[in-house]
Amino acid sequence: MSMHSAAQEFLLQSIMPPLPRLTTNLAGVELRTPVVLAAGTAGMLDEMADVMSLANLGAVVAKSVTREPREGNAFPRITFTRGGMLNAIGLANPGLDAFVRDTAPKIASVPTTVIGSIAGDSIEDYVAIAQAMDAIEAVELVELNVSCPNVHSGLEFGADPVALAELVGAVAESLNSTKLFIKLSPITVGTPNTIVDLAGVAVDSGGNGITLTNTVPAMGIDVHTRKPILSNTTGGLSGPAIHPIVVRLVHLVYSQFAHDPTHAGIPIMAAGGVTRWEDAAEFILAGASAVQIGAGNFADPRLSLKVTKGLDKWVGRMGYTNISELVGTVIV
Ligand SMILES: Cc1cc2nc3c(=O)[nH]c(=O)nc-3n(C[C@H](O)[C@H](O)[C@H](O)COP(=O)(O)O)c2cc1C
Repeated sequence: MSMHSAAQEFLLQSIMPPLPRLTTNLAGVELRTPVVLAAGTAGMLDEMADVMSLANLGAVVAKSVTREPREGNAFPRITFTRGGMLNAIGLANPGLDAFVRDTAPKIASVPTTVIGSIAGDSIEDYVAIAQAMDAIEAVELVELNVSCPNVHSGLEFGADPVALAELVGAVAESLNSTKLFIKLSPITVGTPNTIVDLAGVAVDSGGNGITLTNTVPAMGIDVHTRKPILSNTTGGLSGPAIHPIVVRLVHLVYSQFAHDPTHAGIPIMAAGGVTRWEDAAEFILAGASAVQIGAGNFADPRLSLKVTKGLDKWVGRMGYTNISELVGTVIV
């Protein structure tokens, strides 16, 4: 008798053959495809394994981990908008000790690249988590979620170039072989610095790549009760509404990096409103080496497979042998 249920058998058989046109490289980390599940939208690690074989993915970003467990904000903390979803989950996660105890031992058996995601409100927190993730051999890459307020300044780390440089420098120093991506907010409130400047600071301080972007700060109001829909009043908008905003930011950062010999070749991962393969292809043309899917997973848990197939055919139709040849090739 088979050890697998019929559903598991189906998933095992649904592993796509190698797709040589889609292999991509993030600062030395080889991905099978450029299609990645975004932080916080695919569970801690392998929750999506029930609906598809993770072997088909380029990578999965685990939910952001903080040093202490966090319950997150009170409900309601998610609402759907016409252009996507608004969330104020508030980084609910079981904390670093539970991650090391329960999740870390499972990572090596996940059949795709696992990217760790780190959040905190002090440099010490970020460094402690980075060191713990660096010690997990199967984690080759981590993403710093810098959209968290710094306890000292109250400003988000990612909005303050001085705090960002200090944070990225300290984390980069604490890592041995693990590569470091900095995930920026699309809105740099409270600072005259543009996202291009902040991305430059992140790389100059030791980052190996940039993820663009986290959600867009946003708010919804219930007109009957006159109260905010989210218990937290405001939240982060993701989904199709933000896609063109992020395409522009990827284009801005990629083109600025391309013109600067010290930054040329720094890889960018794009996240924002991918719901069709064409959205992912736009990100590639704007300058992304990999594309994350977040809110789109909620509407269609198998969206990443459709995007992967669409991208593979697109690269073939465009007459290229590998998708990396199309990165940043928008004609402006
Ligand atoms: C429900 C939800 C939870 C999220 N949790 C995290 C998180 O823990 N860490 C993080 O860096 N980003 C988190 N994000 C942001 C996503 O990773 C992604 O950057 C953003 O949603 C934009 O991509 P999308 O439009 O494809 O969703 C979350 C987004 C959603 C919708």
